[in-house]
Amino acid sequence: METLECIRTRRSIRSFKDQPIEFYKIGLLLDAANHAPSSGNVQNWRYILITSKDSMHQISALAAGQECIANAAILLIACSDDEDVEMHYGLRGKRLYTVQNVAASIQNILLAAHDLDLGAVWVGAFDEEKLSAMLGVPPIGRIHALLAIGYPNEEPIRKYMKPLEMLTFFRSYGNRIDDIHIVLRDYSVEWQKQATKLKDVATKGLGTGKGFLKKSLDLFKEKLKERKNKGK
Ligand SMILES: Cc1cc2nc3c(=O)[nH]c(=O)nc-3n(C[C@H](O)[C@H](O)[C@H](O)COP(=O)(O)O)c2cc1C
Repeated sequence: METLECIRTRRSIRSFKDQPIEFYKIGLLLDAANHAPSSGNVQNWRYILITSKDSMHQISALAAGQECIANAAILLIACSDDEDVEMHYGLRGKRLYTVQNVAASIQNILLAAHDLDLGAVWVGAFDEEKLSAMLGVPPIGRIHALLAIGYPNEEPIRKYMKPLEMLTFFRSYGNRIDDIHIVLRDYSVEWQKQATKLKDVATKGLGTGKGFLKKSLDLFKEKLKERKNKGK
């Protein structure tokens, strides 16, 4: 799959088929995680692979009973080992970089899963203390997320996307440009608008077109009158 298509079509999948994932695909997911960028290349993510149904049910109970956890083919528990990051970058490393590094690797897994025809969801709501105890996570690390992965058994409905111009500022925070697509030379938005207009004309008859013609004719007549009056 092409990269941008993969990014644009990835969705959270919470319902999975009762179908195991080929082991080589699990390897590819973990390899994708390992290719993520990280501060000073510390690669501080650690993943725990869970394949046992019993464990999945236990973990689901610690994640507000979320069914996707119990029904997944596998879980990848995204953890961090914060020792190196803290040593190199102090408090900023501990508070910010460690989270960002793991998040980047998680996103790689989600995209790789989509590319491999798998579905996945990033789960952040869980009892961290109890789960850490259950999985033996040492105090120097923490669990950042649970990734439930399997073959998709649903097609999510379209999601609301905030418009680009709401989320992008120019030169300083809060400075918005309305027609950002023109600034970014994304003329597809304009084509889309024209296509919608043409579709309107096609479906609602020539309403718009006729209205436009009548207006032009009226304007022409008015101008003609003005000329005649001037001539007098
Ligand atoms: C930090 C984080 C925590 C999340 N926690 C949960 C969760 O606990 N349960 C869940 O079903 N989805 C969770 N999600 C998935 C989001 O609901 C989902 O990404 C969002 O609605 C956008 O939908 P999409 O992933 O299909 O684009 C989480 C996502 C992120 C990034």
